Amino acid sequence: MKGVILAGGSGSRLDPFTKVMNKHLLPVGRYPMIYWTIKKLSNAGIKDIMIVTNKEHIGSFKSMLGNGDILNVSLQYEVQKKDGGGAADALLCSCRFVQNEKFVVLLGDNIFEDSLVSFVNEYKKQSSGARVFLKKVKDPERYGVAVLNQDGSQIESIHEKPQCALSPYCVTGIYMYDSLVFNYIKKLRPSDRNELEITDVNKMYLANSRLYFDILEGWWVDAGTHESLFQANQLVNGMTDWEADL
Ligand code: G1P
Repeated sequence: MKGVILAGGSGSRLDPFTKVMNKHLLPVGRYPMIYWTIKKLSNAGIKDIMIVTNKEHIGSFKSMLGNGDILNVSLQYEVQKKDGGGAADALLCSCRFVQNEKFVVLLGDNIFEDSLVSFVNEYKKQSSGARVFLKKVKDPERYGVAVLNQDGSQIESIHEKPQCALSPYCVTGIYMYDSLVFNYIKKLRPSDRNELEITDVNKMYLANSRLYFDILEGWWVDAGTHESLFQANQLVNGMTDWEADL
C-alpha cells in the first residue's frame, strides 16, 4: 500500500512562522512536524510515500528529507498547482502516483498516538470503499464532524466545521481510500471557503454507502494553531518509544 501526506496550505493560523516556512517543517518535539506522519506510515509498513505541498516550499522539503533514505522510506514529491485549492485538490495531485491501488492519506499536521498497523491491515481486507478515523473532542466546531446513529455503529452524516457541536466526533486527518476517490474529487464544487473539501469527498462515499470508520483510542492533535502545536510538543515529549522508532 502507498501513502500520501498532504503538506500544503497557507498555515495562516501559525503566523508569523508560516510567513517564511511551511508549517509542516516546524518543530514537534525534536523533529520537524512532517517526520511524525512519515513515521506513522513507515511503522505500518507503508514505505512508498508521496508528499504534496506548495511550490514555494517544495525545495525545503527536498533539502530536509531528500529521497527519504534518512527515514528508511521512499519519498516522491508533487506540487499543488492551485494555491489555497484545499485538501481534496491537493489529493488529486497524487492520482498518477497512486494509480488503482487502495491507499492511506494523512494530513501532515495531524499528530497522534494510535498505531496505524491494525487499521491498515483491516483496510487491506476491505474490498472497496473508504475508511475514516474519528476522535471525541471538546471543540468539534473546529473540525469536520461525524454524527453517528443511535447505537454508534454507523455514520449518519458529516459536516465541515458546523456552527454548533452536532456531535463530539471529529473526523481526523487520517483517511483510507480506494481509487474511486479521484472520480469523486473531479465532481466536487468549491466550498464556502472556496476550497475543495476532503469532507465533501467523505460525504460522497457516505451517500454511496461506502464509508466505514474506526475510533482512535489514543491522543490526537491537529497541530495547526499555536495552542495545538504547543500541545503536540508536550504530548510527543511524553512518548517513551518515539526516539527508538525514528
Ligand atoms: C481539515 C479538514 C477537517 C478535519 C481536520 C483534521 O481541517 O477539513 O475536516 O477534521 O482537517 O485535522 P483544516 O485543517 O483544513 O481546518
